[in-house]
Amino acid sequence: MHWLVRLVAREGDLVLDPFTGSGTTGVACVEEGRDFIGIERESEYVEIARRRIDAAAAQTRLPVGRNFVGVELNPEYAAMAERRIAPHRDQMQLVTP
Ligand SMILES: C[S@@+](CC[C@H](N)C(=O)[O-])C[C@H]1O[C@@H](n2cnc3c(N)ncnc32)[C@H](O)[C@@H]1O
Repeated sequence: MHWLVRLVAREGDLVLDPFTGSGTTGVACVEEGRDFIGIERESEYVEIARRRIDAAAAQTRLPVGRNFVGVELNPEYAAMAERRIAPHRDQMQLVTP
């Protein structure tokens, strides 16, 4: 989804997902620096999406511009972190032992 968001919208663009579901598109937008509006008819999904998007926004508000080196032993998490860190590669670096 991150790849798709980067493909179709530039940083700062506004993305509309009229079938938001659990908010995967919204999370990707927050993490990729795109604004996001979601529409969802099921209230349980609205709550799930809101929680996930808020959590992603809280992470993204952490200070950037400092050097970061992470060490992760689990290859599955390492790959996940690698994907998330990739857009900020100039500030962060992941080391897989
Ligand atoms: C497959 S999910 C979407 C997944 C989502 N795009 C994501 O990123 O996780 C489809 C969602 O659309 C919602 N939906 C279906 N018809 C709708 C309508 N007319 N208005 C608003 N939401 C609708 C459903 O409740 C369901 O949660």
